[in-house]
Amino acid sequence: MRSARCVAMLPGMSTQLTSYYDGPDLTGRVRDALRKAGLDPGRLRVNDLVAMDQCHALGLAGTVALAKLADLRPAERVLDLGAGIGGPARVLAARFGARVTTIEPVARFRRLAAELDAATGLEDAIEIVEAHGDALPFADGTFDLVWTQAVLPNVADVAPLAAEAHRMLAPGGRWALAETVAGPGGDPFFPVPWADGPAESHLLAPDALRTVLEHPGFAAEVWEVGATAVAPAVAELTSAPADPNPPVELGLIMPDRDERMASLGRNIAEQRIAPVLAVLRRAP
Ligand SMILES: C[S@@+](CC[C@H](N)C(=O)[O-])C[C@H]1O[C@@H](n2cnc3c(N)ncnc32)[C@H](O)[C@@H]1O
Repeated sequence: MRSARCVAMLPGMSTQLTSYYDGPDLTGRVRDALRKAGLDPGRLRVNDLVAMDQCHALGLAGTVALAKLADLRPAERVLDLGAGIGGPARVLAARFGARVTTIEPVARFRRLAAELDAATGLEDAIEIVEAHGDALPFADGTFDLVWTQAVLPNVADVAPLAAEAHRMLAPGGRWALAETVAGPGGDPFFPVPWADGPAESHLLAPDALRTVLEHPGFAAEVWEVGATAVAPAVAELTSAPADPNPPVELGLIMPDRDERMASLGRNIAEQRIAPVLAVLRRAP
């Protein structure tokens, strides 16, 4: 298997991240599961992986819906900030023709992402960089689109990350995001997919989040909270239903997935949390 490109974090960069995402190496576990499903772990299609590698509540449908909402075009330069094991990046590269740079601070996620990018033949379309969102090792105006999915709930202070997202974008560039906000129903129940407890979870109310995100110089072109935030993904899922028997699933990466998803559902039902979907534009 060829190896994908990986770039190391620059010395002196910030490391504001909990140990929540630490754990055993994932590459062997995923290789074994792929072989068990009759696949060659060195030669895969992006679709073989989508039930496992879209590490956010709305899965592949959420990724495709957000890319369409952001009007992502072939050859656009995307910065996927907090890319996890790289599933959304592979979809943006393979389906939309984007040139993607991913940043991800967790080594075991980067290792698996590199292996899967190579196995799907996308190592030239996707660059993997070790970095944190509040200190990005790229020149001003490098990207057309900044992308975050399910990242901000882990970020205690979103302001530096928003400033960096703004700095990364060329004039007129946009930030597409699908995230979670605090609801009026009270504190969330744990564990959730992004945290074992409140120390790792940093949800803002919708208006507070919008204020901090827009502060560096963004204007929201799309800002949907609650049911209207999930409607594009639901429409996507209706037109392209998920494979009912995928070869690998999210539970491989998140072993206690069912418990976390159950509390996620309860938190949404009781309005303790809500999804937010947005496209923010940097002034031209
Ligand atoms: C729930 S996962 C989502 C992964 C990916 N965006 C997806 O949707 O498949 C959250 C990811 O954000 C990363 N992350 C959390 N805080 C971050 C920060 N301050 N800067 C960059 N990445 C961060 C975590 O390491 C983790 O990989």
